[in-house]
Amino acid sequence: MKKIAILAATALVACQSPSDENTSNEETTMKYAEDIHSFSRPNEAVVKHLDIALDVDFDTEIITGVANWTIESAEGATEIVFDTDQLNIEEVSTNDGGVVEFTLGEEDEVLGIPLQVPITSETKNVTIKYSTDPGAKALQWLEPSQTSAKTHPFLLTQSQAILARTWIPCQDGPGIRFTYNADVKTRADLMPVMSAGGNPTELSADGSYSFEMPQAIPSYLMALAIGNIEFRAIGENTGVYAEPNVVDTAAWEFGDIDAMITAAEELYGPYRWGRYDIIVLPASFPFGGMENPRITFATPTILAGDRSLVSLVAHELAHSWSGNLVTNATWNDFWLNEGFTVYFEQRIMEAVYGREYSEMLASHSHEGLIDQVNEFMEEAPNDTKLAIDLTDRNPDDGVTTIAYDKGYHFLRLVEETVGRERFDAFLKNYFETHAFQVMTTERFVDLLTTDLLTEEEAGQINVQDWIYGTGLPENAPEPNPARFVAVDQAAEAFLADGSFEPRDVTNEWSSHEWMRFIGKVGNITSEQAAQLDAQYHFSQSTNSEVLAAWFQPTIRSGYEPVNPVVEDFLINVGRRKFLTPTYKAMIESGKKEWAVEVYEKARPNYHAVARETMDDLLHGEEQ
Ligand code: BES
Ligand code: ZN
Repeated sequence: MKKIAILAATALVACQSPSDENTSNEETTMKYAEDIHSFSRPNEAVVKHLDIALDVDFDTEIITGVANWTIESAEGATEIVFDTDQLNIEEVSTNDGGVVEFTLGEEDEVLGIPLQVPITSETKNVTIKYSTDPGAKALQWLEPSQTSAKTHPFLLTQSQAILARTWIPCQDGPGIRFTYNADVKTRADLMPVMSAGGNPTELSADGSYSFEMPQAIPSYLMALAIGNIEFRAIGENTGVYAEPNVVDTAAWEFGDIDAMITAAEELYGPYRWGRYDIIVLPASFPFGGMENPRITFATPTILAGDRSLVSLVAHELAHSWSGNLVTNATWNDFWLNEGFTVYFEQRIMEAVYGREYSEMLASHSHEGLIDQVNEFMEEAPNDTKLAIDLTDRNPDDGVTTIAYDKGYHFLRLVEETVGRERFDAFLKNYFETHAFQVMTTERFVDLLTTDLLTEEEAGQINVQDWIYGTGLPENAPEPNPARFVAVDQAAEAFLADGSFEPRDVTNEWSSHEWMRFIGKVGNITSEQAAQLDAQYHFSQSTNSEVLAAWFQPTIRSGYEPVNPVVEDFLINVGRRKFLTPTYKAMIESGKKEWAVEVYEKARPNYHAVARETMDDLLHGEEQ
């Protein structure tokens, strides 16, 4: 076999000047980390820039694309490998070879199909003509009836973790960054937005739009949404996109966004991406939010009418540093993206809404973590490790509260051990020094122990155990929110003798106190459920979190008046975080038939990633 020199990875290193938004190429000797979830071999040949033309056809539910990649290769490299999944590759050409003969490798159930393209030392551009499959996993095509206004169809993409390859042939690993320009052509009555600059605020005459992304991003942040959407400005560099009947509500709900950005910048340095907009998607979007650069994708289930669920926006905004700027090298390092982001989210929430408020969020995180650790320690203890091993698994398996909440608790412990001043200085420097680069768990541990912690502090924290061990270490911080004291007393009073008469107390309660209350009353009888519902009308709550929390005790208690509400919710909302516990409650309380029946009606409204999880839950091995 011919020897191939290893390519010195060109890491995009941010300019030192905080006022300069641009990035420049700088050679480093770092090589790309091994990524078990991509067929690409970036140390031999790697993409640097993408010029892409996308023709989006709502009738056939097919995107026809021409992806022109600018590449760099190591001496002696004879091919470049792209990831594809469900793509129909029509033709591949290169700048020096004209139309070339490409090879599609063997299909892997999780990873898809490698596309191998022959190159020479002269090859600088590879052009791939292709089309997507109507069932492409990243794409969700919605009928007008599945949108809020019910008048126009909608398309949204979800590329994280490894679904970008189902709509763009790409080197689909988080460690590979590229800039991009895109031309999008679609129906003239619909407007597209992308994770890029140039998002329109008005319809063009002919359905053609151009986008430009000058900051290098990994493929999982490629994003496109198209629908009957309108724009409302919030601040000078912030705004919201949503369907016409939602956009004003959304603009009000996110009214604190500029304050959040200011708080974030004060903590960890400048926001490096230009604009920050949010698009509120139809309710079948599978996640709460997705941190697509310059435009967060969000579920409408956070529009509570009282700004009480906007920590999700703080979370996605925080990813503009943790994740989008300093990126997990592989999906085994996912906790670096999410754990940091939960920590940063809470710091933003504390700065904007006060410590009492953010401690309620921390407490939800703590409770969720304890439940998850207990569950996993029985079934899959290795999945309680921060440094998870996803070999031969879908990276989606790593999306659990461990990465988020164990990660958060670890960072909070570090903060509490060294004090805020030192920790904040360390983090600010971390985001600056590693901007537009990847981070591995090992490297982070190394930085932490050399740049921040004394030996004694590292020992006190027991860093190794936190990162590489299972379970929840005993020194985990325990948030203790003052605002939950009265809530817990009220719950106890109710459980003791039904004497719960808390109207005067509860006037001040936010949805977080209510969620805690519902969680605390726990296992109730259907009579108790009826009593609470008569008093507090939980079944009519317009707050998605309160409603989803309410489903837990009521489904399990057999309180039937909640059933139509549950059905309606499951059919309309596709957010996986709500679906999983709700279907689980149905199954675990002996109502699997009902669950399957509702799922049959609801499934067409779910995105592929939610379908996969629910298929497993409802039709997988017997529970
Ligand atoms: N990046 C994630 C969503 C994600 C993770 C999608 C992994 C696919 C694979 C996003 O930032 C996120 O964490 N969303 C959460 C919100 C949150 C406030 C914890 C969600 O969707 O619930
Ligand atoms: Zn996140």
